[in-house]
Amino acid sequence: MAVNYEDQTILFDFVVKQGNGVKGLIDSGMSCVPQPFVQPPSERIATLNGQTCEAAQPIDLSQLDGPHHKEVAKQIVEAAETLGFFQVVNHGVSIELLELLKTSAHEFFAQPPEKKAIYLKEVSPSKLVKYGTSFVPEKEKAIEWKDYVSMLYTNDHEALQHWPQPCREVALAFLKSSMQMVKRVVEVLMEDVGVRLEEERMNSLMGTKMVNMNYYPTCPSPELTIGVGRHSDMGMLTVLLQDGIGGLYVRLDNGDWAEIPPLNGALVINVGDTLQILSNGKYKSAEHRVRTTNIGSRVSVPIFTAPNPSEKIGPLPQVVKRDGVARYKELLFQDYMNNFFSQPHDGKKSLDFARAD
Ligand code: OGA
Ligand code: NI
Repeated sequence: MAVNYEDQTILFDFVVKQGNGVKGLIDSGMSCVPQPFVQPPSERIATLNGQTCEAAQPIDLSQLDGPHHKEVAKQIVEAAETLGFFQVVNHGVSIELLELLKTSAHEFFAQPPEKKAIYLKEVSPSKLVKYGTSFVPEKEKAIEWKDYVSMLYTNDHEALQHWPQPCREVALAFLKSSMQMVKRVVEVLMEDVGVRLEEERMNSLMGTKMVNMNYYPTCPSPELTIGVGRHSDMGMLTVLLQDGIGGLYVRLDNGDWAEIPPLNGALVINVGDTLQILSNGKYKSAEHRVRTTNIGSRVSVPIFTAPNPSEKIGPLPQVVKRDGVARYKELLFQDYMNNFFSQPHDGKKSLDFARAD
């Protein structure tokens, strides 16, 4: 199909509104990045950053509930307090499943556009499933070089009924086999601030669960585009499977960016805004972004965990008592979420919404 790359309205309609995605653009033979994807210089990732980061050393979760509990818990706490990112191995999710997830992500996006476009927000047969390109393309100065499908979890039955065919079973298996591990990590983080969450409260704080599949098509000029712009995740913890291509960067305290290197068999975990708010700032939601590449198409599969929309979130009383000040106000998670999704990615600006005046 001939696409007029020069006309920005036609291009936007083709990629975003008709659901051809960035992948459709590449498949149509495009060989030069069109203007709407060209990032302002300040957002480009010009040089490949050689910095390795602490998250290159994975934490062995099989040691968490044995004689080495203290050491492992300390590694988790320290990572959450500093980088906000770490990688884990022996996490309880089978390596075969991780491989299947990457294959089925490729399978989903390899489908013809009309098979994916049925899940565009405006027409999706299910509120649980949404397919699209970039984050909020209508509001962004430049569109992110990424197609995605997101699958919200309510229960097993609905997931198997409504999630898209090529990935429903594996995505559900991934969610179910990681939830216990994620909750255990949250418990460890809470223990360190002297908080034991009742089961009911834990379930409410982790009540929103979503599995995404991200597809970053190969890009002819990676230096002009970004896969995902600078942002933090809004929820509690994100668990992420990335493939071997690489390109996930986290911001360090000194402002530099370091890559979270792909490690076969490992899962990446990062702290979201909600956990930063609950811990009154002790745990850092990590600012991160994704580079594009011309060596191949990259897939990643994050699981986002967040509170129920009706849950009130704010710094935990025990932590405020210890700190002598509440750095964030109490708010309804629904309001935080609405604000988060109403604006383009802009680093950690999302947290301003919760900051105490
Ligand atoms: C995200 C994200 C990183 C990646 O989806 O929020 O940061 O590696 N993804 O795809
Ligand atoms: Ni993210």
